[in-house]
Amino acid sequence: MKIVRSIAELDLTGVVGLVPTMGALHDGHRSLFRVARAENDVLVASLFVNPAQFDQQADLAAYPRHEERDLEIAEDAGVDVLFAPAADEMYPPGFGTWIDVDLTGAEGTSRPGHFRGVATVCVKLFNIVQPRRAYFGQKDAQQAAVLRRVVRDLNLGIEIRVLPTIRDTDGLAISSRNVQLSPAERTEALALPRALAAGAETYTRGRDPVAATRTAFNGVTPDYVELVDLDGVTILAAALKVGNTRLIDNVLLKGDLS
Ligand code: PAF
Repeated sequence: MKIVRSIAELDLTGVVGLVPTMGALHDGHRSLFRVARAENDVLVASLFVNPAQFDQQADLAAYPRHEERDLEIAEDAGVDVLFAPAADEMYPPGFGTWIDVDLTGAEGTSRPGHFRGVATVCVKLFNIVQPRRAYFGQKDAQQAAVLRRVVRDLNLGIEIRVLPTIRDTDGLAISSRNVQLSPAERTEALALPRALAAGAETYTRGRDPVAATRTAFNGVTPDYVELVDLDGVTILAAALKVGNTRLIDNVLLKGDLS
């Protein structure tokens, strides 16, 4: 695996698949790598903790960083090129062009500016790496839908592939942020997938999934519980703060994101 730190050093040929990441790699990333490896000639992963998508400095500072371990996981997963630029390579002095996404609801409302940061860094990565396909997890379904819209609206000609959420055996969606949870917080965090599962089950019986999810939180107050329409696909999404860690999760109610 080649580790590339500067844009000038990147020299790619063939059909390229890109897995954008912020590091702290886990089984969710492994599953993206596996599919991207099979579908493309060249597998590129990016590792960049994007300051522009954090609305709070403390959240950015606390974001887990384990580069040595990430390199081993990426190499083991068959990544050909790991693009790991420094912040000033992506945002040099004088940087001032942003992709402003027209979006409200769930993360779009709870984290103002978040999707602007995500869309901007992803469009930069798409232009730098020139992939045919880019891979994202369904846990961040709204992010994937935003990027599909950006690709469509700006005619970028890239396929956005969305792969299923990977969960631990107890149902918690695997996330880089899970390592920040104490054992007691990890147990508390299970309220999130359990409440969403209860909401989804209620939906199959024709009843209100949002109310059922709120009830199933059983006294715990989520940041939000919402039905979100992603260009014809409906998800039931929720966010929960556990200690200092904010977790998001969703279940698909209607349609297919893949
Ligand atoms: O999902 C993530 O890890 C990030 O939002 C992404 C897509 C790598 C952009 O920084």
